[in-house]
Order: sequence, then C-alpha cells, then structure tokens
Amino acid sequence: MRHPLVMGNWKLNGSTYMVSELISGISNELSRVDGCDVAIAPPVMYLDQARNTLAGSRIALSAQNVDINLLGPFTGEISANMLKDVGAKYTIIGHSERRIYHKETDEEVAKKFAVLKEAGLIPVLCIGETKAEHEEGRTEEVCAREIDSVLQNLGALAMKDAVIAYEPVWAIGTGQPASSAQVQAVHQFIRAHIAKYDMAIAAKVIIQYGGSVNDKNAAELFAQPDIDGALVGGASLKIDSFAAIVKAAAFKKSDRFQCGDKAQ
Ligand code: 13P
Repeated sequence: MRHPLVMGNWKLNGSTYMVSELISGISNELSRVDGCDVAIAPPVMYLDQARNTLAGSRIALSAQNVDINLLGPFTGEISANMLKDVGAKYTIIGHSERRIYHKETDEEVAKKFAVLKEAGLIPVLCIGETKAEHEEGRTEEVCAREIDSVLQNLGALAMKDAVIAYEPVWAIGTGQPASSAQVQAVHQFIRAHIAKYDMAIAAKVIIQYGGSVNDKNAAELFAQPDIDGALVGGASLKIDSFAAIVKAAAFKKSDRFQCGDKAQ
C-alpha cells in the first residue's frame, strides 16, 4: 500500500524564530497522527536547526535544491552529501520556480536526480505544465517529457522509492488549484507512463499534487486514488493549515485500508 506523503515547501521563507515556532507547533499538532509521512523543506541554511528542533519527531527533512557536483570550485552550491550530512531525507528537484527563474533544464534535473540517488537521498521530482501548455492541451506531453529525461538517462530502477510531485505551474500560489478530477487524470497518466517502463515501480511510486493545496481542498484531492499526498507551499507556513492537510492525508490512508485498495 502506498503511504501518503505531505511535504511543506517553505521556499524563500524562514528565520531562526520561525523554524523554532513552526516546527514545534507542527510537531505538537501531529504527535498522535499516524498513516501519513510528513516532511518539511525549510531553506537549506536552517536544515541543521530544523534537525535539532525535530529531534524525536517523525517529521522528516527535505532540501529544496541540490547541485549536480559533489565538491570543488562551485561557489555557492550545496552537494547531496552535505544535505545527507545535515539530516535531509528528501530533496525537491525540478521545481518550476527553478526551471523558470534559474533556467534549469530537464538534463540538469536528471543529473540532480542521479546525485541524490547516489547519496541515498530521495528525490522529489517536480513536473507540470505552464498555463500556456495547459491551454494548448499539452499537459501529458510535458509531464511525459520531464519524466522521460530521468527514466531514459537513469533507467526505470531509479524511480524506485522516488517521489513525483505534479505541480501545474498555473495552480502554484494562485489560490486556484486544479480540480481533483483534473489532478487524478494526470496522476493516472503519469503512473501509466511509468508502467510502460516498469509496472511494479509505477504501482508504488508516490505521486504528490502541488498547487494551492490548503486545509479546505485537501480532503477532496486525497480522495482520488492516484493522489498520494501533497507538496504544499503557502499553507505549509501555517501550523493549523499544514496539520489539517496532513490529517486529511492520514484519514485517506485509513479509509482506503478499510475499503481495500485495488491499485496496490
Ligand atoms: P502553493 O501551495 O503556495 O501553491 O505552492 C505549491 C508549490 O509550489 C509547492 O512546491
């Protein structure tokens, strides 16, 4: 059975005070919630503080980016081994904000995927179409291309235990999420696409949705069979909202367990 994963992507938000307040609040709220994996991705400079604040909690840490190089003359960069060293379990790669503002290509994202796997970190591969691509009906083509660059360079096994986050660019930070039916259709396509390479890996891969997820819309999204959690931006900065999203995902798992899940 797939275990849902809800991850908070703090993006460029945070301070030592915020790390301490937000993490303590979330940990308290979620201390008795089971059935959903939870992670937070604060800015990289706060990872070590976050690790200390999270001690004893089952909330995992994620980075928001990684360099393709392991060491050497690459001023300003952070390696996969450094992230591992400060306690990261996951690393987000290929976020549309990096593809757009930092001109990251599919090839670079595939290289990042490879260095993370090599270091024993779990890549959270963000994919998704822009508004224009959406309106041109190119959602599946874009998602397939972004996944293929990893699968064709690294092979299907690389996708084992990895996480995919489908984040339509037009839904990020707009307060207008894709509908649960739209997301389900794309997630089903993504899973079927990976199944062309390896059916067992496709059945197990976690596919999160990201884009204006909040405490009001989370349950409806998670009710869909192929939505395995969320990558949450704005709402992950509020203790109550983030905790409510995690609880909705945990409820989905218990609900599916009782109903029996044919997709497993
Ligand atoms: P919002 O939840 O703020 O729309 O951001 C989504 C996102 O980009 C998460 O990576």
